[in-house]
Amino acid sequence: MATPDLKGKYAVVTGASSGLGADFARTLADRGCSLILVARREDRLRSLQQELLGQYGVEVQVVPLDLTAPNAPQTLYDWTKAHEKAVDILINNAGFGLYGPFVEIPWEREKNMLDLNIITLVHLTKLFVQEMVARNFGYILHIASIGAYQPSPLYASYSAAKSFVLNFGEALNYELRKTNVHSTVLSPGITATEFLKVSGQQPTLYQRLAMMRSADVARIGIEHMLKGKPSVVPGRFNALLTWSNRLIPRRLSAAISYRLMV
Ligand SMILES: NC(=O)c1ccc[n+]([C@@H]2O[C@H](COP(=O)([O-])OP(=O)(O)OC[C@H]3O[C@@H](n4cnc5c(N)ncnc54)[C@H](OP(=O)(O)O)[C@@H]3O)[C@@H](O)[C@H]2O)c1
Repeated sequence: MATPDLKGKYAVVTGASSGLGADFARTLADRGCSLILVARREDRLRSLQQELLGQYGVEVQVVPLDLTAPNAPQTLYDWTKAHEKAVDILINNAGFGLYGPFVEIPWEREKNMLDLNIITLVHLTKLFVQEMVARNFGYILHIASIGAYQPSPLYASYSAAKSFVLNFGEALNYELRKTNVHSTVLSPGITATEFLKVSGQQPTLYQRLAMMRSADVARIGIEHMLKGKPSVVPGRFNALLTWSNRLIPRRLSAAISYRLMV
């Protein structure tokens, strides 16, 4: 499949203030795509806006928003309507992990993570996919994790949320197969971003050895999205890890995952 020309197209990138989100924005801007950057930290979004304007000359809009605030996805969607931006690409990237024993994590933090990683992602998809289908053009990239492929003790609810994202995004890809709208799931392994700092984990030896560069992961995600692929696991080692889960009993899979996390 030939990849589309993105000049004049608009992409919404959630969680664009750091890490993968900022690199998705750079990768899309490099292809001439205009951007709508969303996250809570406006100063970070503004500095990325300046960088992209200077380097790529594309249009860059900034929407500072807590995507777990009541009805935030609708607020963002309404903003695009009010500013007459037809969104052709949605990068469902905003998310965070919670590291630690499930019994010790406060419910408010758990709920906030599930709201952002699941409810916000599905709501944004619901809002934007309808007009993409009406125009018969669109791409949606959902960010899951290799944790989606197995039970992951110490990231129990986070990795289960990412299993939801993986299954949701792949199922939607199939539902849309007769259209020119594509839903793709990117499942990164450990990537050099602010993820570990936010999740509250010190990097383990395995994570230090397996760490991928954020720019590389973002590029792989965008390339597969533009080819309409249902799913991609970036990096040979990560792909091997997720594939090998098919061969081992789930109980053992949970134990191996635990060993890699401590
Ligand atoms: N890095 C990894 O190892 C890894 C591995 C697998 C999957 N992932 C997934 O990759 C995605 C991106 O994470 P990252 O690694 O790039 O981590 P990151 O550097 O911490 O970036 C997370 C982004 O999400 C935004 N965000 C968090 N809460 C938000 C909220 N309530 N409303 C709006 N935006 C919010 C943050 O912006 P503000 O704080 O400014 O709001 C930030 O821009 C996440 O879905 C994560 O689960 C990461």
